[in-house]
Amino acid sequence: MRAAGLLAFLRPALPLLLGLSLGCSLSLLRVSWSQDAPAGEGDAADAACLEGAAGPERPPAGRSPEGGGGGGGGGRAADEDFKPRIVPYSRDPSKPYKKVLRTRYIQTELGFRERLFVAVLTSKATLNTLAVAVNKTVAHHFSHLLYFTGLRGAKVPHGMAVVSHGDERPVWLMYETVRYIQQHFGGDFDWFFVMQDDTYAQAERVQALAGHLSINQDVYLGRAEQFIGGDERAPYCHGGFGYLLSRSLLLKLRPHLDNCRNEILSVRPDEWLGRCIVDFLGLSCLSQLQGQRFLSYELAKNVEPEKEEGEAFRGAITVHPVAEPTLMYRLHKRYSRIQLERAYEEIEQLQDQICNLTTRMPVGEAKLTWPVGIEAPFVPKSRFEVITWDYFTEQHLFSCPSGAPKCELAGASKADVENILQAALEQLNRRYRPRLRFRKHQLLNGYRRFDPTRGMEYTLDLLLEAVTQKGHSHLLAKRVNLLRPLSKVEIIPMPYVMEATRVQLVLPLTVQELDFVGSFLDAFAVNALDTHDNVLLTLLLVYDPYDAQRVAQVDVFAGVKAMVAQLEKRYADVKIPWISVKTEVPSQIKLMDVVSKKHPVDTLFFLASVWTEISGEVLNRCRMNAIGSWQAFFPIHFQEFNPVLTYRRDPAAAASTSGTDFLRDGHFDRHAFAEACFYNSDYMAARSRLAADAALDREEALEDLEVFDLFLRYSQLHLFRAVEPGLVQKYVLQSCNPRLSEELYRHCVHSNLQGLASRSHLAMAFFEQEQANST
Ligand SMILES: *[C@@H]1O[C@H](CO)[C@@H](O)[C@H](O)[C@H]1NC(C)=O
Ligand SMILES: *[C@@H]1O[C@H](CO)[C@@H](O)[C@H](O)[C@H]1NC(C)=O
Repeated sequence: MRAAGLLAFLRPALPLLLGLSLGCSLSLLRVSWSQDAPAGEGDAADAACLEGAAGPERPPAGRSPEGGGGGGGGGRAADEDFKPRIVPYSRDPSKPYKKVLRTRYIQTELGFRERLFVAVLTSKATLNTLAVAVNKTVAHHFSHLLYFTGLRGAKVPHGMAVVSHGDERPVWLMYETVRYIQQHFGGDFDWFFVMQDDTYAQAERVQALAGHLSINQDVYLGRAEQFIGGDERAPYCHGGFGYLLSRSLLLKLRPHLDNCRNEILSVRPDEWLGRCIVDFLGLSCLSQLQGQRFLSYELAKNVEPEKEEGEAFRGAITVHPVAEPTLMYRLHKRYSRIQLERAYEEIEQLQDQICNLTTRMPVGEAKLTWPVGIEAPFVPKSRFEVITWDYFTEQHLFSCPSGAPKCELAGASKADVENILQAALEQLNRRYRPRLRFRKHQLLNGYRRFDPTRGMEYTLDLLLEAVTQKGHSHLLAKRVNLLRPLSKVEIIPMPYVMEATRVQLVLPLTVQELDFVGSFLDAFAVNALDTHDNVLLTLLLVYDPYDAQRVAQVDVFAGVKAMVAQLEKRYADVKIPWISVKTEVPSQIKLMDVVSKKHPVDTLFFLASVWTEISGEVLNRCRMNAIGSWQAFFPIHFQEFNPVLTYRRDPAAAASTSGTDFLRDGHFDRHAFAEACFYNSDYMAARSRLAADAALDREEALEDLEVFDLFLRYSQLHLFRAVEPGLVQKYVLQSCNPRLSEELYRHCVHSNLQGLASRSHLAMAFFEQEQANST
């Protein structure tokens, strides 16, 4: 009875329990299997990375160069040192409890290290020639690169970190360098690549090499050379081609360095180091390890890198000797080209593979995009998302930045068109070679559009002259499609922003806008004051000269002041100051000048309009997107359409706009620049630059400018302009001040017109009115 009751009680959980126990037993089974299986050498070697630096208790693994080749080079030694242990934790009660000091980054605590450190041995004489060439060809790939010279006093080229040891003797330089690296970087890096300034290195391949080796072994990898008259079986690594040292090797070498310096007589630094490693650690230079080969190429005298072919050259990671900087650059060019060719080949292979695979997919080849492997063209879901094509010819562009219907093709656009035409011809010629040769006669039509998911797409109608092998020629029109795909996607580093910054709201108010102040203040109270957001509000009361004169008798802003007083009474700790400004033309810059002077330099301003509905979300985005001396933020608000026009049929719907799809009937008003977030310091900097531009610092000139223009023209800041769904403005017909500059006035009128209703709404309204008139 009781058992049955228990079962009934457990029934809902039964599948879960069963599943759990099954899972546990299966995992136990798996554990015992994997323990039985012989540990693969590679696995063990990798796993052994868990053990930190090889301690002194382990005898140096005497390894002959032959034994080191192939996949399992270090496997033998590594097998032994990987044994997981459980360290029981027990605190000695007699000792006082000491608080564990945690490091700032978990990386430090876990002992993570960086991958690769590069040392370039140079000299006073070549620092400004060869070393600079090295810097220009590899430095941007290596995050940590140091140059070591003997004598001090050479002028250090810009942007290069140079360590001088104060002695020009090469062996001494080597000794000091190894000691220096060991002391300063021995704890932070896994690999150390040492090269000379007459070495050309393919940085990416050196990195890849280091990335493919497991880190726990003593590695001395480079181009193996025999000592003159020495032991055949223990070569050293030739310094000219560079060599890779592992951290553990460097650690072990440390106690012997001084002995090496005193005992080993050698003129060549690489031989000296090699001897030291061979004699004291019993290791010798390897040219390959764990399946990774250190390929190098010895450059003959007076060769032309451009003409150099052959696998040995193409595959080389480093090249030596490079006698002069120009040769270094030529080598770099040649190898960059080789890399590019490889990349293209690889792309072609991958495309073939994709083609082969898609035929076996359920959807078949229909799913295949063009070009293979690149995102399919964006398919618009509504007519608002359609990406339009721009029409162009060889001379003209038919969608111009200025808004004109037609403009001369120039600059980057011209280069773009020329380039794409050339690419089209090359492709055609390649495809029909050798039967046909094409020459361009004319570009009939050109279309291009930028698809943000893909890149720049082109469709060209070409009038071509095709020449057959026999020499017959014929004119024909052909349409081609081309794509310039987006390539490297980069993450732009951005300074970190604290969200707690205080926001200083600035609200300029003119007499025409008085009716809306009430709802602005209400929204402000509910969304900012009630929530205790870190925000202050300053009102800018803009009097025109006439109102200013009679302010003693009638204050047009008396109502506003009363409202503010009421708010201040309601929220005891809130002060809302106002500043009165007398001007006929309330341009943004003029008003900001007044406000800017009254606030500290580090103030974050949020310039608002009376229709702006402040919310916590918007304030936070203002804080995040405005970054001092870096970025100013200009949100594009959402402007609702006139409800009279949009809800003519169904006035009830107008009331229920808030809710799920509140961004329904309206548009993001790109003409409006009334809202802005920026730091006072940035404003002041831009403003003083404007002032320096004396020609513009006249009254009228200021009226042409908005804060946005000011930042655009007179600062180096990023201007971040983006739609802000949190800023929704109710429909309003703004009064456009005809005294503002023509441009601003036009914007204002445009904004009003487009904010009326969508075209379909207008068409419906128009249609209905026509019908009503005709009956
Ligand atoms: C050296 O390389 C660094 C990093 O790419 C660069 O910033 C610096 O300007 C270079 N210096 C010279 C002299 O080329
Ligand atoms: C694709 O398939 C063809 C024919 O089946 C074959 O010859 C070719 O090697 C395959 N290509 C790749 C990259 O697998």
